[in-house]
Amino acid sequence: MSMRDDIAKVLASEDDIRARIKELGARITEDYKDKEPVFVGVLKGCFLFMADLVRACDVRCTVDFMVVSSYGAGTISSGAVEIVKDLSHDIAGRDVIIVEDILDSGNTLSYLKRYMNAREPASIRIVTLLDKPDRRTADVEADYIGFTIPDAFVVGYGLDYDQRYRNLPYIGVLKPEVYS
Ligand code: IMP
Ligand code: MG
Repeated sequence: MSMRDDIAKVLASEDDIRARIKELGARITEDYKDKEPVFVGVLKGCFLFMADLVRACDVRCTVDFMVVSSYGAGTISSGAVEIVKDLSHDIAGRDVIIVEDILDSGNTLSYLKRYMNAREPASIRIVTLLDKPDRRTADVEADYIGFTIPDAFVVGYGLDYDQRYRNLPYIGVLKPEVYS
């Protein structure tokens, strides 16, 4: 059976994703035209989105990555955020753009925003490919959103379930029987 057989519904097709990233890239290009932002990708979920997004942004920029762990193998956030790999470069005085795959409870991004703010950047904005506002418990919102989605567990285009499906080229809802 193909991994595609585990998908109940496609939420964003390859074409949808490409078109939306082009729009986000145009907005970021305009908003940062006189700046040199640093894109900070939150691995691993951001890896495809980050690669496509920075190529859609016609700005001078640098990139950095953090690895954080907020989920175990399940689908419910534990609430605790652990930094597995920190920033490689100083962000003091920089215009930071945090790149996330999905904003769900908001635990991860509210923690990261506080963590980076303490390093005194010039500004911090958040770009997330997906936003699941129904599940928010932390006080954090994204500045740029790819797609607002309903409360369902999704995989693909970087997002995993138990480390799988990251290579699916579109975003789909996982069949509940796969994780129950
Ligand atoms: P938050 O801290 O609850 O906002 O969760 C953020 C992290 O949880 C994301 O970076 C994802 O790794 C993971 N996550 C949340 N919802 C989903 C989902 O529907 N599919 C896959 N991963 C998810
Ligand atoms: Mg994950």
